Amino acid sequence: MSTVHPAPVTTLLNELLDIYDGRAHGRYGLSQVTQRLHAVQSAALARQRGLPAHLIVAALLHDIGHMIHTLGEHPAAAGIDDHHEDVGAEWLLPHFGPAVAETVRLHVAAKRYLCTTQPGYADRLSRDSVESLALQGGPMSAVQIRAFEAQPFWQDAVALRRIDDAAKDPDGPAPTFVDFLQEINIAAAGYACQPAHPSAPLSKTV
Ligand SMILES: [Fe+2]
Ligand SMILES: [Fe+2]
Repeated sequence: MSTVHPAPVTTLLNELLDIYDGRAHGRYGLSQVTQRLHAVQSAALARQRGLPAHLIVAALLHDIGHMIHTLGEHPAAAGIDDHHEDVGAEWLLPHFGPAVAETVRLHVAAKRYLCTTQPGYADRLSRDSVESLALQGGPMSAVQIRAFEAQPFWQDAVALRRIDDAAKDPDGPAPTFVDFLQEINIAAAGYACQPAHPSAPLSKTV
């Protein structure tokens, strides 16, 4: 049984606001939106598509790993994979549990999966997504596809990926971060109310 105890929700909210108010003003890759606009547009799309609170939170926070590493604004341009999906998942796990953390961890693998299994998907990727794809491993082998589909949250990660791709519109909706406090509360409280929390380390990226 785990000894991990989630932080009180108010503490968590303050930490998130510190990150998104203080570090999310940079451009999202090579797109014309900021990290923060990409985050809130992702959450708004998840809400619009009727997804549950924990997936709205996964959408809102899926790129938090980009904001808490120390590799600069666009490390992919220098040929560096920041592994933001793993960095983000590690941060999210004690606060929201595996349903959020694993979905976030798999959102990069979901891009590789869709590039391999969905004709035309790769052609619609933005330039920076194509650029990072090569660093992230490129298309999947048949073995990697089977391994991905064996992951518990792979379908949620594919749904998140499609939202991720669509949430880069500089003229699109721009809700505030605090518009999603209700979902953050529901997702964090839902995990905190579970009788035990996982202590095992996250599995490796596919
Ligand atoms: Fe990402
Ligand atoms: Fe993203």
